[in-house]
Amino acid sequence: MDIRFDNAGVDYGKRTALFPLSLALKERRIGVIGLNGSGKTTFARLINGLVKPTTGRVVVDGLDTVGDAGKVLGKVGYIFQSPQNQIILPIVRDDIAYGLKARGYDKAMIDAAVEGILGRFGVSHLGSRRAHELSGGELQMAALCSVLVTGPDILILDEPTNQLDLRNRALVQKTIASLPENLIVISHDLPLLEDFERVLLFDGGRLVADAPAAEAIARYRELAG
Ligand SMILES: Nc1ncnc2c1ncn2[C@@H]1O[C@H](COP(=O)(O)OP(=O)(O)O)[C@@H](O)[C@H]1O
Ligand SMILES: [Mg+2]
Repeated sequence: MDIRFDNAGVDYGKRTALFPLSLALKERRIGVIGLNGSGKTTFARLINGLVKPTTGRVVVDGLDTVGDAGKVLGKVGYIFQSPQNQIILPIVRDDIAYGLKARGYDKAMIDAAVEGILGRFGVSHLGSRRAHELSGGELQMAALCSVLVTGPDILILDEPTNQLDLRNRALVQKTIASLPENLIVISHDLPLLEDFERVLLFDGGRLVADAPAAEAIARYRELAG
């Protein structure tokens, strides 16, 4: 993984959500922390091209997130802060298949891939369920299957344990720890990021710390306190 921010910044109208910053991200586990509204989601969405930079550019493995937007979307999976907003089809199995159908794969291959990913996460029983009837933890797992089935190299999780009970939180934490993909995890759940190699702290749209987890989390506690 090689993500480069080259003086990339984002304004929404007159409001600057992210001041221009330059950095390179190569670590396999990267955390993103900061107060509400500090620019975390904007930063993360720049990486898969859901948000376009107002200034500068963002390049992922040599692909520009504006010029090569389609390829970048295939490379970088994103699980939204509210995963119910990204489930498109009512039945979990169909939703997981959706991204593969869009790529034109044949039915036998799609069926095998869908059952394979449900099995990989131990949630085969969710395949026939209605997405809008799932609990928060189940929904997070279904969204994870829908995104990972297409084989992205990089996965961004935006507050994945937000609103989960302790059991589902533990399940999501265990699942995250087991993923071979490169991960960028935005979270207020600081223990989730404890062993991450690198944690970025945002404040008011500015990157104010870029350090191993313990150091960045300590800075965050100072800033919030
Ligand atoms: N689509 C948008 N239009 C206008 N302002 C936005 C939009 N998205 C985010 N913002 C603003 O940009 C700032 C950063 O938001 P965001 O990146 O969502 O922060 P965080 O994820 O840290 O809570 C906030 O002030 C927010 O209100
Ligand atoms: Mg956010």
